[in-house]
Amino acid sequence: MDSLTTHTDYGSTSLESADLDPNPLRAFAAWLQAAEDAGVYEPNAMVVGTVDAQGAPSSRTVLLKGLDDSGFEFVTNYSSRKGGEIAGNPAVSLLFPWYSLNRQVCVRGTAAPTAAAASDAYFARRPRGARLAALASEQSRPIDDRATLVSRVAELEVRYPEGVEIPRPAHWGGMRVEPVSVEFWQGRTSRMHDRIRYLCDPAAATGWQVERLQP
Ligand SMILES: Cc1cc2nc3c(=O)[nH]c(=O)nc-3n(C[C@H](O)[C@H](O)[C@H](O)COP(=O)(O)O)c2cc1C
Repeated sequence: MDSLTTHTDYGSTSLESADLDPNPLRAFAAWLQAAEDAGVYEPNAMVVGTVDAQGAPSSRTVLLKGLDDSGFEFVTNYSSRKGGEIAGNPAVSLLFPWYSLNRQVCVRGTAAPTAAAASDAYFARRPRGARLAALASEQSRPIDDRATLVSRVAELEVRYPEGVEIPRPAHWGGMRVEPVSVEFWQGRTSRMHDRIRYLCDPAAATGWQVERLQP
């Protein structure tokens, strides 16, 4: 386990607020594009943090599926653990870890289900197998064995043969996160990392305050 003791040099790429778009969602889009261009594996993968009614946190990876000038979207099962926790407390964190670029983006914000029409559109774009799996899986609930799930999918394949429309289950859909803070982190030599954080501020001309944080 050499990784526990090695010190990686994170390079000399610098980050100034002037390098970033005044809108953090647009600045994020540019970094996501850079991650895609650099060939980062699953560049749209992000770790979503939620808290339960007792304030205990949990996290899991999901894929970013939508992005515009005011929010991030992913799709999930609303009855899952994360779905239940968001229903009770919409405060979430998102973390995009782009280690091979010495970059991360940390978001804090508020999550809410997307409009049904947007969820319908996301569902329609999914491959047939993924749509059937969304119908079959009670995400986050225990199940006796894998065979039970496989047989549920087999039943659904008969009920919805190729060419027959598969209805979006009400428990599945988009989740939209509107950020209150977005931090761009650029790793640098000797742990002198650059951190630029946007804080939502309706009184600011751009709607955002921008500050530099110590590494
Ligand atoms: C790379 C990757 C991508 C994933 N994408 C999604 C996703 O887009 N939506 C989703 O609900 N789960 C996704 N998962 C599964 C989640 O990490 C998680 O297991 C599931 O959502 C249940 O989480 P929960 O029990 O905390 O609600 C993904 C997992 C990985 C490793």
